[in-house]
Amino acid sequence: MKKYRVWHPLGTVSVGQEHLNIISGDRIYVQDSNGKTYIDGLCGLWNMSLGYNNKKIINKITEQLMEIPYVNLCEFTNSTVQELANKLIYLLHRDIEKIYFTCTGSESNELAIKIIRKYHALKGNYGKKKIGVIASSYHGSYYGSLSASQFESKNKSGYGPFLDDFITFDLPFCRCCKSGVLSSECLDVMIKNLKKQFEEEKDMLAGFIIEPIIGSGGIIPLPYEYLTVLSKLCTENDVILVYDEVATGFGRTGKMFTFEKHKINPDIVCMSKGINSGYLPMGAVAINKKIYEVFKVSSEALFHLSTQNGNPVCCAAALATIEQLEEDDRALVCYVEKMGEFLKSQLMESLMYHPNVYDIRGEGFMLAIDLVESKFSNEILQQNNLLAIVQMLKRNGLVTEACYNPGTTSSIIMFLAFIITQDEIKNVVNIIKKTLTRLT
Ligand SMILES: Cc1ncc(COP(=O)(O)O)c(C=O)c1O
Repeated sequence: MKKYRVWHPLGTVSVGQEHLNIISGDRIYVQDSNGKTYIDGLCGLWNMSLGYNNKKIINKITEQLMEIPYVNLCEFTNSTVQELANKLIYLLHRDIEKIYFTCTGSESNELAIKIIRKYHALKGNYGKKKIGVIASSYHGSYYGSLSASQFESKNKSGYGPFLDDFITFDLPFCRCCKSGVLSSECLDVMIKNLKKQFEEEKDMLAGFIIEPIIGSGGIIPLPYEYLTVLSKLCTENDVILVYDEVATGFGRTGKMFTFEKHKINPDIVCMSKGINSGYLPMGAVAINKKIYEVFKVSSEALFHLSTQNGNPVCCAAALATIEQLEEDDRALVCYVEKMGEFLKSQLMESLMYHPNVYDIRGEGFMLAIDLVESKFSNEILQQNNLLAIVQMLKRNGLVTEACYNPGTTSSIIMFLAFIITQDEIKNVVNIIKKTLTRLT
């Protein structure tokens, strides 16, 4: 028998042999080598927001490939790359001054960490090195971004030492408060804790990185009121606020970016995934005027480089994606907002009385179905049971993901493509309903 040589992400050496061989994709569907079709309820890995076989993206990529496939940005510039930077600045907020292109979400966060520390070093704030992060957050798998990540620690075991000086703040989440909306009592406690810890650390705090909706930790939106207080504290204490919009950016939550919903202008915005609908590896970091001015005065370079940063072919795919998101007054992004509510209400209606369904959470097409062992105990569903459900859903033609965050949530999570129709949403809900009903 032929040896299986691919070492798949997050897998042990033997994982992968049993994986389905996906050979084609169209819109929200992927097909395996046995001819079976699945609804990709994860949009690839949360990135293929405009779906498979998007002709406008494919054509733009092809045109750019024919024009020039690579430009060394250390020596030259290129109009496609410049055009994308201008486009992103237009989409982001008025304080953004520069865009640095990266290849992944992890790299974007890596760079954000470097910028935070260098900014304070240039200002002579040598005591400011620490970076605040929120429990359960994920910012990537490179050393810096993994050090910033605060998810289940067993996955980190054996890889240390990590980067020092990340400070974990409590996750503003409470299992008693459903739909990710905290009661005013819970919110008061969370904000009080935030203020207290911030006050203790503020002189050493250089930056604060947040995942506005905790993704792999269970689709938990950080409360607007909490973020408003955090943003104010950051501004008052010269703490660089970073929004990690790698998963949430480019329309995923029904707005182009979540900071728009929060009416906060972060100092740095990290992007990737949906930036070019996942067609090619790409990320970006947006940097505001405040940071730009410090680098400008010092005349120091920003030491960061990866050979493929700002590849024009990846940028062309991003321009084609953004063009479609912007079309007709952002009709597609509005559709995500509207249909996200529709999906949530359909799931609520169909699953509300199911004994294992505790809650439905999320914004736009980023959603979690929170499961428990039973409604009487409200104990989160055991990991093996959750994995079995996700496997059953796959057998029934719907690809989803298991999110097991001990003590916090055990959830099925979904990231639907923006081009899904209302009937297809009903089909998704039907598959989930049928699969879960068979459990009881
Ligand atoms: C919020 C967030 N940040 C960063 C990352 C890392 O991005 P990448 O996998 O492209 O390195 C992810 C990936 O899931 C993410 O969800």
